[in-house]
Amino acid sequence: MSAYLILKHLHMTAAYLTVTLFALRLLLDAVGRPGWRQTPLRWIPHANDTVLLVAAISLLFVTPWMPFVHGWLTAKIFLLVGYIIAGVFALKTTVKTPVRVAAAVIALVQVTAIFHLAMTKPVFS
Ligand code: HEM
Repeated sequence: MSAYLILKHLHMTAAYLTVTLFALRLLLDAVGRPGWRQTPLRWIPHANDTVLLVAAISLLFVTPWMPFVHGWLTAKIFLLVGYIIAGVFALKTTVKTPVRVAAAVIALVQVTAIFHLAMTKPVFS
């Protein structure tokens, strides 16, 4: 398998895992099980997100795609920053519940937009 295919599969697997792990932590908090913070679920998402980003940056070296040249990729990077910020608020136990719920919705909308952009790669003029 080519380096491109390995990196793309790695990136996509990590992408699906990041959403699954985020949703799982939201769900555990929602059903009153905040104890996941004392389990490997505390660090596994961070390890996965590191793989996601390393594969993403590596893909830039083996594909013609360039941030700030290709709009879908630029938009993806801005949405990624938004997803990270909203995700932090959504999982913070010191933040009030309505703010956490709003942050969770915003994070999920943003990550959905990231998937949509990645899969359709629209050309912005
Ligand atoms: C949460 C963050 C991210 C998610 C969920 C995500 C998800 C995905 C998915 C699902 C694909 C495959 C789309 C397809 O062809 O079917 C993809 C492709 C790609 N991603 Fe990401 N991505 C993320 C962040 C990034 C970042 C930060 C970069 C670059 C700095 C990046 C660079 C790329 C590139 C270049 C491709 C195109 C590979 C190709 O089709 O040749 N991604 N992404």
